[in-house]
Amino acid sequence: MDETQSPALLPHRGFKLIVGIHDPDDVDQIRDLEIRESDVFVVTYPKSGTIWMQQILLLLEAKGDVTAIGPPGKYSNAGLIPWIEVSGKRQAFIEAPSPRLRVTHLHHQLMPAALSERGKVIYVARNPKDVLVSYFHFHKVANMLETPKDFDDFFEKFLRGDVFGCSWFDHVKTWHSHKDDMDMLFITYEEMIQDLPSAVGRICVFLGKELTDEQLANVVKHSTFDNMKAMPPANYENVSGELLNHHQGRFMRKGTVGDWKNHFTVAQNERFDEVFDKEMKDFPLTLIWDI
Ligand code: A3P
Repeated sequence: MDETQSPALLPHRGFKLIVGIHDPDDVDQIRDLEIRESDVFVVTYPKSGTIWMQQILLLLEAKGDVTAIGPPGKYSNAGLIPWIEVSGKRQAFIEAPSPRLRVTHLHHQLMPAALSERGKVIYVARNPKDVLVSYFHFHKVANMLETPKDFDDFFEKFLRGDVFGCSWFDHVKTWHSHKDDMDMLFITYEEMIQDLPSAVGRICVFLGKELTDEQLANVVKHSTFDNMKAMPPANYENVSGELLNHHQGRFMRKGTVGDWKNHFTVAQNERFDEVFDKEMKDFPLTLIWDI
């Protein structure tokens, strides 16, 4: 094994899988899955707002009635809208009734080819400096990920793409380049922070759903950071301590834009900007770094 490689990650067809969480054979069969018109995939690089989008989709399905989703102590967002790449979830997807709502961190080349003909994709992108900080803290909470030595060490790992999700730059660029090959809504975490009602409205229209203004207002209300932080299903509190060490921190941590400023040194920021400029030159998306 390469010395710089995290021991918990298994390189697989241009991606990295988490040992014990992903089964390479299962992942290989995702590409050939049959897709229904009503299927929706939320695609994210880790720590970009996956759980937030799960919450919004669950609430849109429930027409804003949070109690209709289920008793708060009994479900988790990830249980209701699972990761397609996690072991055993592919077969469950095949057998699930419509609408099949799923999330994924996979690269485009591993996802069902049929998405170019049917189904919908919502890609959520977040500025990578905040992603790095959020991911650093998450590595301390998530038992399946290597505990970082220190911030500096994790910073370099992230820039090298030596983390689950691989390179943030490749993830965003590749998915964005396929934006017009499929029915995709490309939205940013920062847009959602700046104007959640408008983001929820766009998602609702994209999914072809019809909700009243009151129902939409309820979707917004139950997907704010403060309300989600108080909800066990959105904090993975119903998920076993084997996966997440809740004593190390909460899943819903800060939910802000610009927290990187509290973590990056001046030198780290310069180094990040250098890599960013090289990687993202000519990329047609303006990211928001601070609000
Ligand atoms: P922070 O660690 O910066 O707080 P993911 O679900 O992809 O793992 O992303 C988790 C990140 O999204 C965490 O970021 C979490 O706090 C943030 N998040 C989740 N729901 C949010 C909300 N309603 N508003 C703002 N941020 C939210």
